[in-house]
Amino acid sequence: MPLSKTLGVAYKALVIGVNGAIGSALFEALQKDPHCSQVIGVSRTSDIPIDITDESSIQNAYGKLFTQGPFDLILLATGILHEDGIAPEKKLDALQLDHLQRIFQVNTFGPALIIKHFHRLLSKQRSLFVCVSAKVGSIEDNRLGGWYSYRASKAALNMLIKTAGIEVRRTHPETSFVALHPGTVKSRLSSPFGSQKTGQIPAEAAAKMLVALSGIPVTAPSIFLSYDGSTIPW
Ligand SMILES: NC(=O)c1ccc[n+]([C@@H]2O[C@H](COP(=O)([O-])OP(=O)(O)OC[C@H]3O[C@@H](n4cnc5c(N)ncnc54)[C@H](OP(=O)(O)O)[C@@H]3O)[C@@H](O)[C@H]2O)c1
Repeated sequence: MPLSKTLGVAYKALVIGVNGAIGSALFEALQKDPHCSQVIGVSRTSDIPIDITDESSIQNAYGKLFTQGPFDLILLATGILHEDGIAPEKKLDALQLDHLQRIFQVNTFGPALIIKHFHRLLSKQRSLFVCVSAKVGSIEDNRLGGWYSYRASKAALNMLIKTAGIEVRRTHPETSFVALHPGTVKSRLSSPFGSQKTGQIPAEAAAKMLVALSGIPVTAPSIFLSYDGSTIPW
């Protein structure tokens, strides 16, 4: 089902994190959708710059985007799994406070501030606020263990999404908040973990994600959704 069936023809979209593999693929797919009347992409280096770990940067971007909204679809596609000196932990002994804080800063606290400010950019008609999460953030689905900070940062992100979905319904009764699992996708984030062999090409994953988003029932304040359209236990 095309996204326009849910969001209406001439829907407006905003993608945050448009430099990343998944963010850029979602942005390009939306640009190609004839029913998407406008899609704006922002990143740390865009004309409207946004660093999700800096609340003043988020507020500045909000001020500039306000006149271009409201948006029927807001997609947040930022995140980290590793960076210089930080790798997913395989065991408890590997936990380091500064690494935990850094992963939470980008994957949880940044998105919390984005939701805080940007929910005001949502249309009061049918609209979606989507944060790219990860299946490994599912508490119920955790069978393998490991990856403490990343798993926990996404589980906490999912709780923020679920909680925001309840509150925002009071003013936006047709908005759904979405924790979206993209599947394994070839990207800078996933490449050290074998995605170059087994991962999806970002454009293919983005096309599947947009189809999955189109199937979300308007009755759902929030949902943990996989790229294949199935739901994931929180
Ligand atoms: N790839 C996978 O297999 C996979 C699987 C499950 C979940 N995910 C999730 O998918 C999302 C996107 O990941 P990806 O695979 O597309 O990785 P990616 O290509 O590395 O993209 C991540 C993006 O996050 C942005 N970012 C990081 N810190 C930021 C900050 N402080 N402010 C603004 N932007 C920031 C980066 O911006 P810069 O370009 O400026 O550095 C980059 O564009 C993440 O949330 C990830 O956890 C990915």
